[in-house]
Amino acid sequence: MKRTETAGVTLRPIELRDTPLIVRWRNQEDVRKNLYIQTDLTAEMHEQWYHTRVVTGQCAQFIIECETGPIGTVFLKNIDRDLQKAEFGIFLGSCESRGKGYGSAAAAKILEYGFSVLSLNRIYLSVFMSNPAAIRSYEKVGFRREGVLRQDFRNQDGYVDVCMMSILKQEWKPRR
Ligand SMILES: CC(C)(COP(=O)(O)OP(=O)(O)OC[C@H]1O[C@@H](n2cnc3c(N)ncnc32)[C@H](O)[C@@H]1OP(=O)(O)O)[C@@H](O)C(=O)NCCC(=O)NCCS
Repeated sequence: MKRTETAGVTLRPIELRDTPLIVRWRNQEDVRKNLYIQTDLTAEMHEQWYHTRVVTGQCAQFIIECETGPIGTVFLKNIDRDLQKAEFGIFLGSCESRGKGYGSAAAAKILEYGFSVLSLNRIYLSVFMSNPAAIRSYEKVGFRREGVLRQDFRNQDGYVDVCMMSILKQEWKPRR
């Protein structure tokens, strides 16, 4: 994977040396509460993920950098080369970097990577309905809502509805 740049953000392939950053970002309460796995991530768990998913090509994962440095990660996991589909994931580590368009800029960039470089046909995701900023960010880059899985998850606040979203290659419009 090559380093790529777009307006406002650069995506660079994740490396093992990024483990402390990922662990720190991922375990913040305002990130953790929006993810399916609610327990803390350890360095060992991330290193295992890196070796079994990233190195093997099952997951294309990038570090998102803006002018101030690294701010988060974005990835396509469960890459299915037969069915040409993959699952999108993203988190920005510091709350100061959120709500400024970096998330949608990074999403646009990895959509381009998924459709143009990996030749995917479908990119999909699931997001808690209790996370409207994420849903809005995904809609800005062309993800469409497919449906809602009612009370599909449960966190400390109780049952959570989960929104399924996707974008197809035929719908995708590259950002200029
Ligand atoms: C989800 C995430 C990656 C989005 O990135 P971001 O840079 O914050 O998103 P953007 O700035 O591109 O877009 C957010 C949009 O949501 C809007 N928004 C913010 N709060 C909102 C709310 N409560 N209701 C509706 N829209 C909201 C913003 O106004 C913005 O839309 P606009 O550009 O039309 O004004 C980031 O917020 C994040 O990492 N959150 C914590 C981890 C997480 O939730 N990961 C996703 C799990 S599925």
